[in-house]
Amino acid sequence: MSFIRMDAGTDEDWVRLERATDEWQAGLAQRIKAMLLQLKQQDDEMAIDQLEHSLQTATRALRGGASEEWVVAALCHDIGTGISRDNHAAIAAEIMKPYVSGEVYEVVRSHQEFQRAHYHENHGKSLGARRLYQKETWYRSAVRFSDDWDQLSFDPAYETLSLDDFLPMVERVFAPERRYAQAAAGGARGGSRFRRLLIKAKKTISRSKRGESPL
Ligand SMILES: [Fe+2]
Repeated sequence: MSFIRMDAGTDEDWVRLERATDEWQAGLAQRIKAMLLQLKQQDDEMAIDQLEHSLQTATRALRGGASEEWVVAALCHDIGTGISRDNHAAIAAEIMKPYVSGEVYEVVRSHQEFQRAHYHENHGKSLGARRLYQKETWYRSAVRFSDDWDQLSFDPAYETLSLDDFLPMVERVFAPERRYAQAAAGGARGGSRFRRLLIKAKKTISRSKRGESPL
C-alpha cells in the first residue's frame, strides 16, 4: 500500500487491501479455536469451566438434531467472555454474522437476555428481558437455545463431546467461501457498503484495463 492517509488511496490500493483482508479472514477458524481454548481458563467456580460449558451446549444442540450452523453457534456463543462479560453475546454474534443466517445471528446476539429468565432472582417470576422479543420470528429458536441447550450445560456428569469433535464443523461454517454468502442469500446483515464499494472499484479497474469507460 502506497498511501499514508486513507483518502489518498488509489483503487489498486483498496483492491490490494481487500485481498489482504480476505487472506486474514481465511484464518478465522483457527482464531476461533484459540479463543475457545482460552475459555478453559475461566472456571468461575462453576461445576465445569467455560470451555466445557461451550462444548456441552454444542453437544446438546447436536443431539437435539440442530443443523451444523446452530451447533457451531452453540459452541461459540460465549466466546466473547474472555474479553467482556457485559458484551460477550454481541462479540460472538458479530464475529459470526457474515457466516450465519440472520436467525442464528439474532439468537446469539440476544442469548444473554434469554438466559436471564434462569437467573436466581427470576425463578418463578416473569420471563424478564426475553419478553421484549416475543414478536420476533426467531423467538422460538432463542427459547430453545437458552432453555434446552445453554442453561442446562453446567453438568459435569453429562457426556460431552470434545473440541476435536467440533473443529471440522467450525472449519466448514467459517470457511472463506461462506463469508458473505449468507448475506447474499438473505441471511445475517453481513453485506457491508464497504464491500460493495470494493467490488465496484474492482470492476472499474477491470474496465479501464480493457480500455472501456469506467462509467
Ligand atoms: Fe452459555
